[in-house]
Formats: sequence, structure tokens, C-alpha cells
Amino acid sequence: MRVGWYEKTGPATEVVKIGDMADPVPAAGEILVRLHASGINPSDYKRRANTKVAAEFPRVVPHSDGAGVVAALGAGATGFKVGDRVWCFNAQWARPFGTAAEFVSLPARLVRPLPAKTSFVEGACFGIPAMTGYHATHVAGPLAGKTVYVPGATGRVGAYAVQFAKWRGARVIASTGGGEAARQAIAGLGADVVLDRRASDLAARILAETGGGGVDLVVDVDLPGNIGLDEKIVAENGAVVSFGAASVPTLTVNMSGRKARNFSLHLIFVYLLDSATAAATCAGIEEAERAGALKHRIGGVFPLAELARAHAAAEAASGTGHFVVEM
Ligand SMILES: NC(=O)c1ccc[n+]([C@@H]2O[C@H](COP(=O)([O-])OP(=O)(O)OC[C@H]3O[C@@H](n4cnc5c(N)ncnc54)[C@H](OP(=O)(O)O)[C@@H]3O)[C@@H](O)[C@H]2O)c1
Repeated sequence: MRVGWYEKTGPATEVVKIGDMADPVPAAGEILVRLHASGINPSDYKRRANTKVAAEFPRVVPHSDGAGVVAALGAGATGFKVGDRVWCFNAQWARPFGTAAEFVSLPARLVRPLPAKTSFVEGACFGIPAMTGYHATHVAGPLAGKTVYVPGATGRVGAYAVQFAKWRGARVIASTGGGEAARQAIAGLGADVVLDRRASDLAARILAETGGGGVDLVVDVDLPGNIGLDEKIVAENGAVVSFGAASVPTLTVNMSGRKARNFSLHLIFVYLLDSATAAATCAGIEEAERAGALKHRIGGVFPLAELARAHAAAEAASGTGHFVVEM
């Protein structure tokens, strides 16, 4: 099979190679997927680019997310038949061989049915971005009638968080630092209010939108950078869910002087969801997709042969959507 890989960390154009490897053979309980599309996420290019550490394995075929068709079933694997359209997740989490390849063989629990109208390119965005957006919006409880604040709503994860919250009946206040075009893109995802995250009176604007009460849930892409704001706007008994730390790694929480005396803080990590939560998350994404509730912002599609260029493009862009390679 044709495969993209790296054997040492570094810039994409230096370390990413394209070549041939033997087709994987599904072990017991595994599903062999003939991949059509493979999604690139920040974790993929950050691990590849981080020269402070060696590559995780002697050879890494990157990417956790993908979509394709079932090519074979290992002994005892059930739930699928050859030819079924599927999406998959966690393919390169604690495993060397991910989805930047023509085939991947995965435990059946990492393989999911692809809704009929979903393209392979779109299905390759479900793993990390949609699962994180879904879990982030659901981990703190029911959403109907609540108000959710989503900064970074142009992001892969943020855009899905907006859409899942709307689909579940929440009112969504979003923000972006990206200007008018970005604000329009977020409004197109269904956000009720879109603000400039760099505005000096952002907290006052969010509070004004909630009649002074604050938001029930914040889904934060940069909690260390935004905790000062979040403490001003989260409602009593609300929740702050963090999935990233874009600016600094350390979080300072004020024990007094914040608005809500009682709120919960969730530091989520999508790769380590327990099996039941992962299955419910996947099922929720598929239900929303079948209901037509999701738009997928595709920023670029590249052939597998141009994997290095695809990585470089994904790294250089932020807030423009998903970068995907096609096989
Ligand atoms: N914990 C997990 O399980 C998990 C899962 C997925 C991703 N992540 C991490 O989450 C981060 C985002 O991933 P992604 O794929 O969504 O990235 P992305 O598509 O590049 O989006 C990031 C967005 O964040 C916004 N942003 C940047 N700095 C911000 C700040 N200080 N405050 C508010 N918004 C800010 C930008 O939007 P504007 O400039 O338009 O405002 C940008 O669109 C990455 O660091 C990734 O590694 C973690």
C-alpha cells in the first residue's frame, strides 16, 4: 500500500516521506479499512514537528482520523461487512500506524458507520474535531435552554461545539479574533451572537447578552489565556470546559473575586474517553449528521502523495477548517 510516514521529528518538508509498506492484516477483533480520506489535526503536526523529543515509534504513519470502506474483518470482529462505509478515530493514538495510508487495521470499537450522505472527506473530520466538540458540549450536562459561550468558534473543534450546542437547543454566543469574514462564517454555523474576542469590553457584552446572569457553559480553546474572562462570565452553577492551552501552559484560578462561587471545571482529553463515553459521543455525532445539523468547514484537500505539503498547509492555517488527504 502507499503510505506517508516520518521516522524522525522535524519540519514536514524534511521528515515526511511517501513510500510502500505491506498491507496490514487484521488481527482478531480488528477491522481492515481501505481509507479514502485522512484528517490532519494539530496533535498530528505538533507531534511530528516537536524536535525536543524523538518520534514516538521507529516509523510513524500519522493521523488518528479517517474514513473509507471495510476491506476485511479479523477473526471474531462483528458489526460490519465488507464494503460498509465507515469512519474511524484514535488510529494513531498510542499506535504507530495511523490513517495516512491506503489501509489501516483497527480494533472494531474505533470504527464507526459513516452516515449515508456524508462524504469520506467529511467523515475524516469526525474523529478528533467532532468528538472533542461533542464531548466538550455534553460533559457538563443537558444543553436545552442553556447559554453557551464558544471562543475560537472558527476552529475545527469550536465550529462543531457551536453546532452541537445549537442542535441540542442551547443559545450560543461565539467569538473570534478573525474579523468580519470569520464572524459571518460563525453566524453561518448557527451561532446566535458573534463577538470580537479582542474587544476590551467583551465580558460586559457577554453579560449584557445574558441579562447579567452569565453563561451556563464555556467551551474554551485557551483556558489559561481566557480564565480571567471566564471567571467574569460563567453563571452560578455553570461549567467551564477546557480542551486547549494555546497561549501559556499554566492556569491561575481565583478563589475569590470571581462571579460564580459554584461552577465546575472540566479539563478534557478526547483520546482517553472511556469506551462508553466514546461510543455515546460517536453515536451523537452520527445522529446530528443524519439530522443535517452539521456543516463541515474544509480548508484544504490534498492527495496522499502531497502529505508534506498538506501538513505544512494545516500548520500555517488556523481557523480556516479541516485539512484532509485523499487516497
Ligand atoms: N484536549 C483535547 O482532547 C483536544 C482535542 C482537539 C484539539 N485540541 C487542541 O485544541 C486546540 C485547537 O484545535 P483546533 O483543531 O480546533 O484548532 P484550529 O482549527 O486551528 O482552531 C483554533 C482556533 O482558536 C482560536 N484561538 C486561538 N487563540 C485563542 C484564544 N486565546 N482565545 C480564543 N480563541 C483562540 C482561533 O480563532 P480566532 O482567531 O478566529 O478567534 C482559531 O480558529 C489545539 O491546540 C489542539 O491541539 C485538544
